[in-house]
Amino acid sequence: MEDEFKMCLDPYKIRGDFPILSRKIYGKNLIYFDNAATTQKPRQVIDAICNYYREKNANIHRGVHMLSQEASELYEEAHYKVAKFINASQAEEIVFVKNTTEAINLVAYSWGIKNLERGDEVLTTLMEHHSNIVPWYLLTHVKGVKVKVAGIKNDGTLDMDDLKGLINEKTRLVTVVHTSNFLGTINNVKEICKVAHEAGALVLVDGAQSVPHMPVNVKEINCDFLVFSGHKMLGPTGIGVLYGKREILEETPPFMGGGDMISEVHYASGFSIKWNSLPWKFEAGTPNIAGGIGLSAAIEYLNRIGMENVRKHEREITNYTLRKIEDDLSKVKIYGPRKPSVRGGIISFNVEGVGPHETALMLDEHGIAVRSGFHCTQPLHECKQVNAREGSVRASFYIYNTKEEVDKFINVMKKIEGIT
Ligand SMILES: Cc1ncc(COP(=O)(O)O)c(C=O)c1O
Repeated sequence: MEDEFKMCLDPYKIRGDFPILSRKIYGKNLIYFDNAATTQKPRQVIDAICNYYREKNANIHRGVHMLSQEASELYEEAHYKVAKFINASQAEEIVFVKNTTEAINLVAYSWGIKNLERGDEVLTTLMEHHSNIVPWYLLTHVKGVKVKVAGIKNDGTLDMDDLKGLINEKTRLVTVVHTSNFLGTINNVKEICKVAHEAGALVLVDGAQSVPHMPVNVKEINCDFLVFSGHKMLGPTGIGVLYGKREILEETPPFMGGGDMISEVHYASGFSIKWNSLPWKFEAGTPNIAGGIGLSAAIEYLNRIGMENVRKHEREITNYTLRKIEDDLSKVKIYGPRKPSVRGGIISFNVEGVGPHETALMLDEHGIAVRSGFHCTQPLHECKQVNAREGSVRASFYIYNTKEEVDKFINVMKKIEGIT
């Protein structure tokens, strides 16, 4: 891919970098609209991983030999690249984990168990992924913490008045999704950080669906933690990121114990252990070295396109699809806000009289991959503003999707409407 792409994103040129996009499904060209679940990988990422295994494979931080030095350098460089990508002050604030889920669990167990007391409150929202609900529910048993939930408005945006009204002197953490993986709603996390900080609470932002799709700047947002997954931004599975402000991570105990997260261990007079410096204190055992290197290549790829261009492309294709659904289809109910400025590249919907899995299977017969079910947001599907108790279908876009693909999707959707 050439640097000139930075000026404007051309999905047709980009597609050439993604081997899987030339696959046929039931004899039809694959149309991949399941990007919120995981994105496809360009050859630059696949090659970076293969090259590591072919030419540099060694454990990191454990050898004086050249291969180990080279692998360590690449893995450490990946932390720097991630820091720069989200405008963190330093690579020490970037902890590599398995995925968003593990990052939230790390905060819940390490920061939460140290800092939360019985009666303290964690405030979350109705539009969270299960991975930002269940760890906090588990803490209610471990620490007697209370979890409060801010609601949504009829238009699918977060009810900020409700959220602000629920913040009080007992609130210790507000944990909120940046872009909803079901409604597509983009939340004003900067404003949430401001009100939470005024009340003395910290803020965790779940960036699983925002960091891959738009510029995210942790200094500007002023969040205390930001979490996201590599596999949703062209990187491999098994690598994710926890960003934390340095002073908070310094005071947070390790999540798991093992090799590389300590600088000294002695049995001498009882245990005497010194934790390693950041971020290694939180990366116990042999990490996903190839995953870190793959994520690094994915970030390089996204940087060459420019995150403003990624956002612009998705906004355009999302608006185009919403308009087409409204103009050409009559039995489709769309969820989430209409205002383009507060909507990411996610469109969840249901077809009147056709179940979500049935719709997804019929789309699949035409080579179109979408997700169906609850998308790990069951409470949101069940709330009165949404009321989609059977689940929904979700089409989600990325840099390689085209309007031509949307037109094919609309044509199949017309056939699906026709069966009712
Ligand atoms: C908003 C949101 N948060 C968290 C997650 C969990 O991500 P992972 O399964 O990579 O841990 C997802 C995955 O779909 C998500 O969309």
